[in-house]
Amino acid sequence: MSADPHKIFVCTSCRYRGSNCQPGFELIKKLQDALKVAAPVVGDDFEVSGIACMAGCSRPCTVAFRASEKATYLFGDIDPDVDIDDLVAFAQQYRDLEDGWCSSGERPGKLRRTALARIPAAMIVTEANEVMVS
Ligand code: FES
Repeated sequence: MSADPHKIFVCTSCRYRGSNCQPGFELIKKLQDALKVAAPVVGDDFEVSGIACMAGCSRPCTVAFRASEKATYLFGDIDPDVDIDDLVAFAQQYRDLEDGWCSSGERPGKLRRTALARIPAAMIVTEANEVMVS
């Protein structure tokens, strides 16, 4: 694992409509396993964590990608039985993009049409007029 790993957050509170199933836990396990298989190409650069809710509740399951000095993404409608390969492909793409920014058409598979948010890296201007990106 690198000193400043990329982070993937998976909502563990999402439920499919009319169900008590919380697919986030299964998604975390499958994604961790797939990233281990993809290591060292991509897996060693990512940490996968569960998080309670990312305000995409009507589009279960939600998954976010975040890294220092990169855009942050929130994806919805992620199915642990179908979308692991797309998530791993995007992880590799995201890791390789300097600022993490890509358009919908550049993303793999289902992630072309399931972005709920793409947030640029934060620009912080200090009193000394230095610009920092986080
Ligand atoms: S419950 Fe998953 S985003 Fe809110």
